[in-house]
Amino acid sequence: MRVAIIGTGYVGLTTGVCLSFIGHQVSCLDTDESKIKALKDGHIPIYEPYLTDLIEEARTNLTFTSSYAEAIPGAEVVFIAVGTPPTPSGAPNLEYLSQAARSVGQHLDSPFTVVVNKSTVPIGSGNWVGSLLRDSVEQRQDKTLLEFAVASNPEFLREGSALHDSLYPDRIVIGADEQRALEVLYSLYRPILDQTFSAPTYLPRPETVVAVPLLSTDLASAELIKYAANAFLALKISFINEMGLLSERVGANISEVGRGIGLDSRIGNRFLSAGIGWGGSCFGKDTAALIATAGEYGLHLPIVEAAKKVNSRQRDRVVEKLLNELKILKGRTVGLLGLAFKPNTDDLREAPAIEIAQKLIDRGVRVKAHDPIAEERFQREYGHMNVHLCKNACEVADGCDALVLVTEWAEYRDLEWEEVAKKMRHPFLLDGRHSLDREKLTRAGIRYMGIS
Ligand code: UGA
Repeated sequence: MRVAIIGTGYVGLTTGVCLSFIGHQVSCLDTDESKIKALKDGHIPIYEPYLTDLIEEARTNLTFTSSYAEAIPGAEVVFIAVGTPPTPSGAPNLEYLSQAARSVGQHLDSPFTVVVNKSTVPIGSGNWVGSLLRDSVEQRQDKTLLEFAVASNPEFLREGSALHDSLYPDRIVIGADEQRALEVLYSLYRPILDQTFSAPTYLPRPETVVAVPLLSTDLASAELIKYAANAFLALKISFINEMGLLSERVGANISEVGRGIGLDSRIGNRFLSAGIGWGGSCFGKDTAALIATAGEYGLHLPIVEAAKKVNSRQRDRVVEKLLNELKILKGRTVGLLGLAFKPNTDDLREAPAIEIAQKLIDRGVRVKAHDPIAEERFQREYGHMNVHLCKNACEVADGCDALVLVTEWAEYRDLEWEEVAKKMRHPFLLDGRHSLDREKLTRAGIRYMGIS
């Protein structure tokens, strides 16, 4: 099928590459011409494992353009995957979505096109995009044979494992109020639903994935499923963090508590790792948007609100624990291991490291940091922050009064801890992710403490 994707961020680019890999003809459009030029030259604007390899394999089915006139005519499916950044009220900024919908409307020319909201958009956006498309089509001279329908196809991929999550998803959700739109999307996703494509060697099909469940529903339900899923995951993490606080007081081990409850199949063991809390561009934005949407209907969402409060308290706990240990923070040096909001990405949006660094700097601490991938981006976006970036973890440790493990990159698990200890002024490490081996560190002479 011929497909156009508007927006080449994490969601748009991953979707475009995966759809072209399974055999569709995909045109990825971005109005940022420099981004398109870079993509044409083989430079990928984001760090995502195996993305370069999959683009290479899908090359013959994949084109990049900045022109709606090139991308839209002939497309049977148009995905809108533009950014919806948060506004100060918590509601997402829909300006890019609106611009994209109008431009798509100006260039539609297939007898029937399905226009799909792939970005996370507020409930009701399907209807709204439909009305923008209609307005745009009506202004045209050549509108007679055009028919289109709007669908919602929320994305559940995680950064860092985006390709795996797209090729082997837990489920595909499609929502539309017109049956034929659902049928087009069913055909589009069939190779993934039936798992009939040959898996790339570097992204092998998990043994448990035989077929992928499809949920076909109405527009509003599909839109709410996306927000409800992210809110639930966010509150699962906040719940374990709240239990962590209590664990600490009663002398329990939060990792054991997480394991113990997670073995109950009704609860499940994922997203129960306690620590400094969630970051990234999705959980914070989507919980805020959900609260804002409920507000429009005069509703409060106390559970979602509590999840946000607990999350922000986790960042303060880093400072509290450092204060307890070091007594005076002014003039101290603290090293952060990891800057990205999670491993395997260079994304710094709402990264806990940024908030923690700022809180420490405000208290007169000298902050050093290392990240295997995100340093260049940090320099570009947060260069003004006065954080001293280092080449490796040992260089961070040099002269530090404390280290904080912020991002659980695999390489930090096997550091030469004796070497690290020797470099530190005060060998103390706060593990913000419960990812290091307490005994190993203790043997190396480092006082270890988890955040729970
Ligand atoms: C999240 C969802 O997991 C995806 O399903 C969704 O598609 C995506 O948002 C989105 O809406 O686009 P993502 O933000 O990429 O994906 O990353 P996650 O793996 O969910 O991690 C989010 C944050 O939670 C990270 O800071 C991570 O460190 C933290 N986390 C995760 C915990 O603190 N504890 C856990 O047990 C799990």
